[in-house]
Amino acid sequence: MIVLEQVSKRFADGTVALDAISLTIPRGAVFGIIGRSGAGKSTLLRLFNGLERPSAGVVRVDGQSLEATGAAGLRAVRRRVGMIFQSFGLLANRTLAGNVALPLELAGVSTVERRARVAELLERVGLADKAGVYPAHLSGGQRQRIGIARALASRPDVLLCDEATSALDPETTRAVLTLLGDLNRELGLTIVLITHEMSVVRAVCTQVAVLDRGRVVESGTVDAVLGGARHAATLALLGDAA
Ligand SMILES: Nc1ncnc2c1ncn2[C@@H]1O[C@H](COP(=O)(O)OP(=O)(O)OP(=O)(O)O)[C@@H](O)[C@H]1O
Ligand SMILES: [Mg+2]
Repeated sequence: MIVLEQVSKRFADGTVALDAISLTIPRGAVFGIIGRSGAGKSTLLRLFNGLERPSAGVVRVDGQSLEATGAAGLRAVRRRVGMIFQSFGLLANRTLAGNVALPLELAGVSTVERRARVAELLERVGLADKAGVYPAHLSGGQRQRIGIARALASRPDVLLCDEATSALDPETTRAVLTLLGDLNRELGLTIVLITHEMSVVRAVCTQVAVLDRGRVVESGTVDAVLGGARHAATLALLGDAA
């Protein structure tokens, strides 16, 4: 479970990206974060694995305050909280197997164990037959599957997705969302997903928070928030989707 208590983020140039946010992401949720460009979504997500530190307030992962933990504690949290990106972030000079193996190499996992784990992960994302292929020879959807496999290598409890399907066509988006839904159900993986597409929220999310100018203006179950939307920011996002 991830809990934010009165978290604010002010950047060095004075930009206030997040303003006193309190939010709970329950274990096992598929939690959507929506909001217009610049609302603070990526900054918020990066707090959850300590990539960004708050200027005020507390971020807790399973009760542990990220502010109170040292470098080793933060590394442990990063193993438990994986992340995928819109741009996939794969290394062009490594095969798919090599990309998925990277976090295991960094963690000092033995070659034998690594091989078995990489094979299992490639199988899990449906790309077992492409282990020796380089990222340049893959479609966007396949690249994102590898991004997911790499993020799962350390057996995280939480997967953070920053616009993970924004570069994909609708059909490929659906396939990747189906994979994320399967991982949520089968592994109990908690998923936090930033998107600007309402269709993505409707397809996979159980809960959603609407961010506007660094504040959470609405949050709750997808049905409650989208069905009973009151705030101008939510209505604008719904209007764009219509
Ligand atoms: N490192 C930084 N230094 C200064 N300001 C920043 C920094 N990172 C983000 N910001 C600012 O913080 C605000 C929130 O940015 P953020 O990237 O979190 O928005 P976002 O909701 O993810 O937007 P988008 O949908 O375009 O990705 C913006 O005003 C942005 O310019
Ligand atoms: Mg962003």
